Amino acid sequence: MNIGTHIHLPLKHNHLSLEQYSDELSSFLKTYIWLITPHIVDFFIEETWRKVPEEWRQNLENLTTSDLLLLPTVCPKDELFNLLPSTLQKFVVDANELCLPRSIDLDRVEDPIIKYYIEITQNKTNILDDSTHVGKELVKGMNIKKKHEVEIIADLISHISNRNGRSQIVDIGAGQGYLAHVLAYHNESQVFVIDSNSSQIDNSKSRTKRLSRVVDEGKTINLNSINAHLKCDLSLSELQNLLQTDEERVEEYDNLALVGNHTCGDLSPTMLRMFKHLTQQHRNITLINVGCCYHMLTEEIIPNSPNLGFPMSKVVQQSNLYLNKRGRMLACQAVDRWRCSSAGEMHDEYYQMFDSQYYRALLQVVLKKYYPHHLTEDFTVGKIRNNKKGSFLTYANCALNKFKRKVPSIVDVVGDEELVKMQEELEQQNSRSRISAFWSLRAVLAPVIESLILVDRVLYLKQECPHANIVLFPLFDAVVSPRNFVLIASSS
Ligand SMILES: C[S@@+](CC[C@H](N)C(=O)[O-])C[C@H]1O[C@@H](n2cnc3c(N)ncnc32)[C@H](O)[C@@H]1O
Repeated sequence: MNIGTHIHLPLKHNHLSLEQYSDELSSFLKTYIWLITPHIVDFFIEETWRKVPEEWRQNLENLTTSDLLLLPTVCPKDELFNLLPSTLQKFVVDANELCLPRSIDLDRVEDPIIKYYIEITQNKTNILDDSTHVGKELVKGMNIKKKHEVEIIADLISHISNRNGRSQIVDIGAGQGYLAHVLAYHNESQVFVIDSNSSQIDNSKSRTKRLSRVVDEGKTINLNSINAHLKCDLSLSELQNLLQTDEERVEEYDNLALVGNHTCGDLSPTMLRMFKHLTQQHRNITLINVGCCYHMLTEEIIPNSPNLGFPMSKVVQQSNLYLNKRGRMLACQAVDRWRCSSAGEMHDEYYQMFDSQYYRALLQVVLKKYYPHHLTEDFTVGKIRNNKKGSFLTYANCALNKFKRKVPSIVDVVGDEELVKMQEELEQQNSRSRISAFWSLRAVLAPVIESLILVDRVLYLKQECPHANIVLFPLFDAVVSPRNFVLIASSS
């Protein structure tokens, strides 16, 4: 396998080095930092709408919810495109042409390594055939999204580990081990499930027992579930201690595969750092990782700590870009799903998404005026269940119940009349449309931020493991499973 870095860059930026591409991403994001970092809950208090160019404001206020769902991915062939002012058209086109393509047409791929991996993932082996007792047991509990991920990534991991001889596969942040059990059943490999959550590990152990009962006589499920919180500076001997495998046993295996599907927040950076340390000590090691939950990454304004989640690479550190939690959260938006729902699918869920932003920002106005002492508390409203939403009044009371201390109800403090007046005033200003439009405008940048986070990881591996072979490409269907990029690194 060739040593080098293999990424399918967007067509327009294909001629750039990875470092230059990363600089393009950072400087684009810096231009729009006013859109990335504001706190949407302060939208009315801070008059955030004024930050949007005037020409865009007038246009955006008149868009329907369906239009707003389409806006982040709008392209010249969409009717909506022609309704936008040219500067706004340019903004969306520039963003869409800059981010990493979230699906790949095989005929357009020039890089033979990426081609090779995509061909593997397209030649599915029906690894999740649920027509047998074993198959039924393997898919038990998986939803459509999880099935989609497992059947693709399990094939890929099996292929890579079998190509390298006999493997030990360590599924990190494995949850209850959906993927690991499929791997253990379909391979000769020794499989380990590691997770820091003890109830997930208990579930994984029960899964192993249930599966062992239905497999053919004589076949064993070679899988161990371990409850541990992994740190990035883990040495090979510490890993072996954890896996309780001795040197002799390890010698039976030709390759160690560190795999992780949807390893949230800092767990992906931790796995990359583990890969770096372990490659210095181990002969054959492969990393196969799909990350998620970027908002949980650690980040600093001036990156000083050695084990930051973002930025990891010197190149991105030098760009002096600080996303903050809102920016990293924005990177988790699923704009391809927005597009589908604009055409009618999952519509309700997304209408509610816009409503929630509106009500939450409205609540902040109420809190600031009538509950000023409570604003100092660390207060997260989180999700309010649909059936509890209804009017703003119902929403506000449900939200106030989430305060750590008991607070007087909104009707007692504000009064019905005053509340209605406040809401009317805001409605006159077209507030609902404005906050929805702002939310949608921000989402244009989501894939650009995600691209930078992914490119940063590749640049880190390139910097720290110059002899590794590194590949990044979209593995899952972005509508089914939006965090769909897989990062593969191998030491041989
Ligand atoms: C989003 S879940 C993914 C679960 C599973 N891989 C899947 O695809 O269904 C991430 C898991 O990583 C675990 N985790 C997070 N940080 C960890 C760490 N440092 N060491 C071990 N497990 C960790 C969490 O407990 C959680 O179960």
